[in-house]
Amino acid sequence: MKRVWSRAQGPLRGSVRVPGDKSISHRAVLFAALAGGTSRLTGVLDSADVRTTIAAVRALEAQVEELGRDETGLTLDVTGWGSRGPVAPDGPVDCGNSGTTARLLLGLLAGWPREVTLVGDDSLSRRPMRRVMVPLAAMGATFTSDDGRLPVTVRGAAAPKALFYDSPHGSAQVKTAVLLAGLRARGTTSVREAVPSRDHTETMLPAFGVPVLRDPDAGWCGLDGPARLVAHDLSVPADPSSAAFLVGAALIVPGSDLEIREVTLNPTRTGFVRVLQRMGADLAVESVSTLGAEPVGTMRARSTAQMTGTLVTAEEVPSLIDEVPLLAVVACAARGTTRFEGIAELRVKESDRLEAIAEGLGALGVHVRQGPDWLEVDGPAALHEASLDSRGDHRLAMAWAVAALTADGDVEVERWDAVDVSYPAFAEDLSGLFAASARE
Ligand code: S3P
Repeated sequence: MKRVWSRAQGPLRGSVRVPGDKSISHRAVLFAALAGGTSRLTGVLDSADVRTTIAAVRALEAQVEELGRDETGLTLDVTGWGSRGPVAPDGPVDCGNSGTTARLLLGLLAGWPREVTLVGDDSLSRRPMRRVMVPLAAMGATFTSDDGRLPVTVRGAAAPKALFYDSPHGSAQVKTAVLLAGLRARGTTSVREAVPSRDHTETMLPAFGVPVLRDPDAGWCGLDGPARLVAHDLSVPADPSSAAFLVGAALIVPGSDLEIREVTLNPTRTGFVRVLQRMGADLAVESVSTLGAEPVGTMRARSTAQMTGTLVTAEEVPSLIDEVPLLAVVACAARGTTRFEGIAELRVKESDRLEAIAEGLGALGVHVRQGPDWLEVDGPAALHEASLDSRGDHRLAMAWAVAALTADGDVEVERWDAVDVSYPAFAEDLSGLFAASARE
């Protein structure tokens, strides 16, 4: 499905609550499925990716009852496997487009003596799985795969070995996969990361009854196994990665003043806020409360005429890994060059995002350069009409819609429906904020 976006006719104004956090929603469903008893989850993101995780745990015979839906998301009662563990289905488990589903499930299944095959869509079947298969094999699981890619068949270990894993990836998916296998191992399983990745697994497992040992200064976390999860009721805060697109839109559309409520302000997720503030953006964040272990608050973004380019370092990247497409679009409005370093990981996301950003911004008329693991965007740039492709990647689709708001002609986005992966109502929310400004 194609969608055509036009230059903004007025400012974005008002207050909005974006959908539930994708990373926390996946983990809430998976941890509740592992636990004994029934967990009530509220505010769960209703999107294609999270529906994939729900369908996957159902296929493995956890019970998921959908009780309803409100503006924050889905309410689910999940009755987990407890000590019985997941049940291998007759056929493969479909992970759709979701890397988080596939990699976290491989870790979860590595600790149970069952044979399960995971499959995914074309995009997911191109993405690397060896990064989790290597440490999980060291713990005793065995795998067959298509050269390190899906379909992957995992045969979990009856008695997995505890592991200290010095992870070469700043990846929360890798860290979480190892820790989930470690739940079934005797002894301490731990992961050290050179650059810390999002820490939702570490903050959420204790709520499900599993203490997590942490030494943030040494970049290390772990847990003592074997450990059983117990049911826990949990509310999911709003997703900063979804909020980022509305923040970016407000910064570049003149006269905008936008508030986004109930967003998780977990510092491992808000690197984009720090980068935008460094660029001079009129962006304020106020911590209001906590939801579970997550700090939650409000983001207020006002249009900013005078932003300047910046250097985004490799150390910052894990805290803004999903926001690079949006930051690259905002960089077009800033004076000077914005350079992103250490972003090779973007090449193995839902698409080759580094290539796609360079191609898309180039088509819009921006001077942009790329290398194997870096990108440079020159601003300020006048954006022109273009026909762009999401490449089936939700974050690219939304980045192109934001870019269109300052372009002097229409921007067509092919495969717009990719937004269903993380933010199905993005177009409606954005239109509503323009409508709110029109009513004033
Ligand atoms: C995620 C971790 C990140 C991120 C993805 C969600 C998670 O991936 O890009 O959207 O929920 O753990 P990596 O762990 O591969 O960096």
